[in-house]
Amino acid sequence: METRIDEIGDRIYRLSTHVPDIVPPAGFAFNQFLVLGDEPLLFHTGLRRMFPLVSEAVSRIMPIENLRWITFGHYEADECGAMNEWLAVAPNAQVAHGMTGCLVSLNDMADRPPRVLSNGEVIDIGGKRIRYIDTPHVPHGWDAGVIFEETTRTLFCGDLFTHLGNGPAITEGDIVGPALAAEDIFYDTSLGPSIAPTVRRLAELAPRTLALMHGSSYVGDTVAALHDLASAYEKRLRAAMAGMPA
Ligand SMILES: [Fe+2]
Ligand SMILES: [Fe+2]
Repeated sequence: METRIDEIGDRIYRLSTHVPDIVPPAGFAFNQFLVLGDEPLLFHTGLRRMFPLVSEAVSRIMPIENLRWITFGHYEADECGAMNEWLAVAPNAQVAHGMTGCLVSLNDMADRPPRVLSNGEVIDIGGKRIRYIDTPHVPHGWDAGVIFEETTRTLFCGDLFTHLGNGPAITEGDIVGPALAAEDIFYDTSLGPSIAPTVRRLAELAPRTLALMHGSSYVGDTVAALHDLASAYEKRLRAAMAGMPA
């Protein structure tokens, strides 16, 4: 396995490790994003066992000890499994996440106390502005959240739009169809009442780029893609509800 690096926006690097053994032959990619500024920020730490690969990739871009912020979408191994490895090598680094994640998991699991972010709070990392947005249960996990980099209008949407394969770093092709195909395999989205409204609220940000954790980043009509995804989940939710006893 190797970790590929692509700059998908101004000083925003996508680190991608494709694992061919997960759902072969397409395989499955794990992406982290490094946002450079006076206070460099990582979104997703990578799996704990992938730390040697991911940290070596980051070291090709900057000294790893300069990392300041460790962020991720929710408490799961691929999102934050290596957070303590990062805290160990970067003495000034701090985990930052929403209130629920900090209270439920991170106050205990992180080796140094995390910074608690309120919904909509911005971390100015010097040259980039990272807004944290709570998205409870979307796509899964009650501590779920995303980040939005305001200067480049990049929405780091975590597991939303998850799809298989080892596609290009950036695509203008359809990402909704592949996401629904992956959903049929993984059933990873919490099909509840908040999914469609939350995804539609993200569309109000009018992102220029959707940075996906599993799959290619997207630079087409992001607003349409978010609304299409919301509608598809709404349809699935209605179908599921229709099958329930009254
Ligand atoms: Fe996840
Ligand atoms: Fe993930």
